[in-house]
Amino acid sequence: MTSPVITPLGYAAGASVAGADLRRPLEEDAMKTITSAWHKHLMLVFPDQRLSPKELIDFTSQFGQVERNDNVPYYRHPEHPEVLLISNKTTNGKPSQTRNTGRNWHADLTYTDRPAKGSVLMCQEKPEVGGDTMFANLYMAYETLSPTIRKFIDTLEAVHDITLIKGFSRRDPEQIKEMTRLNPPIAHPVVPVHPETGKKLLFISERIRNFVGMTEEESKPLLDFLNGHATSPEFVYRHRWSVNDVIMWDNRATLHIALPDFDQSQSRHMLRCSLLGEHSGYVIDNETSEISMKSALAAIS
Ligand code: OGA
Ligand code: MN
Repeated sequence: MTSPVITPLGYAAGASVAGADLRRPLEEDAMKTITSAWHKHLMLVFPDQRLSPKELIDFTSQFGQVERNDNVPYYRHPEHPEVLLISNKTTNGKPSQTRNTGRNWHADLTYTDRPAKGSVLMCQEKPEVGGDTMFANLYMAYETLSPTIRKFIDTLEAVHDITLIKGFSRRDPEQIKEMTRLNPPIAHPVVPVHPETGKKLLFISERIRNFVGMTEEESKPLLDFLNGHATSPEFVYRHRWSVNDVIMWDNRATLHIALPDFDQSQSRHMLRCSLLGEHSGYVIDNETSEISMKSALAAIS
């Protein structure tokens, strides 16, 4: 079989992969080509793939262990818990709880102690125009900071909070309660080393409440700056979907956002599978938050 052909789509991220049929297991050579393109371009597009949920899982499983989504147990495919339905379609007259998924800059599952290694998203239905998804390159974000800021953030940890998902409070109250219980605030390093490329990156997100040991008030200006910097247009690739695109991103080295730039009366229906990431977080205990409380009090006394 011929090797897949990789064509870059953007400077910061994105490449398309031609000549691979994702319904079949990838041969060793193809796997090597795709994996190294994934690490280099961070987000790959495989056009014209029409996969069943099972085929999507099988494809994903070639890159690692597939996530079962136990931390968000509501949006799963009825027969395949590994597949999340990201959709604005109504079922039994009820609006979908994922119709506004991904509306702020984020990486998947950072509110768990194992943020996803990668995610695979397949487009089954799309609006006539819009409904694009953007990706930001977090290596570039880190490398373009001044040495002084880099030194300051190198040892910082950030508190990721599921309730900061945009539109979270408008979801089903029972589901909000359970998902908040399942996912208490959790700290992850701000500058991790990517386990495969060995490079440092800026692991920021709009779902961070504060930095560990800093109050929210102290954290906010830095958070705003880092989020704005990481998502500067020059670090971003914008994907315009076609039906049957399968895309796969490196969730450890990118942020993404789903744009609401489309006619909401038209269907947008996607299937997502994620790869289980490494343990990197710890739940924020009382002692840690006490430090923040003390400095908050000091600031007002
Ligand atoms: C996701 C997500 C993006 C999109 O599924 O993780 O953020 O464009 N979706 O639907
Ligand atoms: Mn997402």
